[in-house]
Amino acid sequence: MNQNFHNKTAIITGAGIGIGFEIAKQLALQGASVILNDLDTTLAEKAAQAISALGGQVRPIGGDASDMGVLQNLVDEAVSQFGHLDIAVANAGITTYGDFFEYSLAQFQQLMAVNLQGSFFLAQFAARQLKKQGKGGRILFMSSVTGHQSHRHLATYGMTKAGLEQLARGLVLELAPYGITMNAIAPGATLTERTLHDSGYNEIWQKITPTGRAATVEDIAHAALFLLSPEAGHITGQTLVVDGGWTAVSPQPS
Ligand SMILES: NC(=O)c1ccc[n+]([C@@H]2O[C@H](COP(=O)([O-])OP(=O)(O)OC[C@H]3O[C@@H](n4cnc5c(N)ncnc54)[C@H](O)[C@@H]3O)[C@@H](O)[C@H]2O)c1
Repeated sequence: MNQNFHNKTAIITGAGIGIGFEIAKQLALQGASVILNDLDTTLAEKAAQAISALGGQVRPIGGDASDMGVLQNLVDEAVSQFGHLDIAVANAGITTYGDFFEYSLAQFQQLMAVNLQGSFFLAQFAARQLKKQGKGGRILFMSSVTGHQSHRHLATYGMTKAGLEQLARGLVLELAPYGITMNAIAPGATLTERTLHDSGYNEIWQKITPTGRAATVEDIAHAALFLLSPEAGHITGQTLVVDGGWTAVSPQPS
């Protein structure tokens, strides 16, 4: 395994399982020191143990990634534990399905709090630290193909993801002078512990994805690590769609 992220410190939210866990694992195995957050503290600790057992350096921190105090603490811990911060990945996001005609204010506000507020303020707190350090850095949002195409009962979720993509573009002018890049990944249907709970998920997406399969967490993490790497220093304000070609044709799942 190469050591592309040697001497880098990364924060990743919502990383107890799924896409965030895989990004945390790959970063740690390529030399990064990782602050691994999850709402579920036990899950964060188990994830950190699993990555440590493979030789990675990880510090688990439980807490809600929509909470200002939790987010600031992630940045503070990165600095106090490892001396500096280099990378922040706002991965935590909730997927709330709902019929538009019935969607409630409580559902709407929870989605905004985690997907938009949490991502926005992690980016702000991380960027303040990166600006202070004066050595640049990387910030990454986790979007979704539902921010590009209509998907039944996911319009509100898709709105939050499209918002994150515009935020990545919109911050370019304020962050570029400090060497901070700001990008997003938009995964298509991805096999995770959560999505594999949905019956027939894998089979449905195999049928309607041009490449003949849903994404794996490794597919998404490989794209994320590229955008977080030193080699991607001239890429900012962009969204990389990783969906096996689904958005090019967008057939709806049954
Ligand atoms: N899985 C997919 O098919 C898919 C597709 C497109 C986009 N995404 C996006 O990728 C990201 C990760 O998706 P996933 O399916 O791997 O995640 P997931 O739903 O499996 O959740 C991963 C972890 O996030 C934690 N979490 C939830 N809310 C949190 C909060 N407020 N604070 C901290 N942690 C929290 C959960 O406890 C869980 O352990 C999300 O932003 C999601 O919207 C996922």
